[in-house]
Amino acid sequence: MADKTYDGVMVIGHPLVEHKLTIMRKKDTSTRTFRQLLREIAALICYEATRDLPLEEVEIETPLTKTTARKLAGKKLVFASILRAGNGLLEGMLDLVPSARVAHIGLYRDPETLQPVEYYFKAPDDLSERTVICVDPMLATANSAVAAVDRLKGRGARDIRFVCLLAAPEGVERFHKAHPDVPVFMAAIDSHLNDHGYIVPGLGDAGDRMYGTK
Ligand code: PRP
Ligand code: URA
Repeated sequence: MADKTYDGVMVIGHPLVEHKLTIMRKKDTSTRTFRQLLREIAALICYEATRDLPLEEVEIETPLTKTTARKLAGKKLVFASILRAGNGLLEGMLDLVPSARVAHIGLYRDPETLQPVEYYFKAPDDLSERTVICVDPMLATANSAVAAVDRLKGRGARDIRFVCLLAAPEGVERFHKAHPDVPVFMAAIDSHLNDHGYIVPGLGDAGDRMYGTK
């Protein structure tokens, strides 16, 4: 499947991403394998989400000669992880961009109201000068993602991207309406949300599957 881009949303159509995601969806996949695959897919999505980062020319010296070459311009990236499950994606993103700064946004979804409840927030204080990539594997109702990006914007972030693994169509629409300036990168858009706000067919509760909780 080729990449698909519409309305600020890019679905990464790479065979390795699809293959790994299929294993993650299976209910009998172990916690260890689930976590490892999430990390691997995160690096692949990160590759696409950073494709258009600006570069600048620098003078360097190779063992043979002086030359000009290109390096990333500007300040280091910030990865903003929505806890807990965002940390699974964060690991893979850091594999690719080890010098990135990290913000943590502690949110859990109230199971009755499906509204996010914030319990922690810590971010570098110069977000306005950096590209911020917010990460959370699941974009279900998008309530958590919208709240996290609201919070990042409230702290000055202007150049924001959102990376997830799976989304529901309802969540994509809601997120795009709330934050049309924030492009979203993901591995797949599933069928729908069930009555409990879970993505169908989905993969279950990402945090529980990553950490072996219930
Ligand atoms: C999950 C997931 C998202 C949120 C998505 O987190 O990691 O943060 O639900 O749902 P939404 O789009 O409807 O807001 P959860 O609240 O289960 O917390 P956890 O990561 O600590 O398990
Ligand atoms: N959060 C999850 O972890 N999974 C879903 O399907 C929806 C929200």
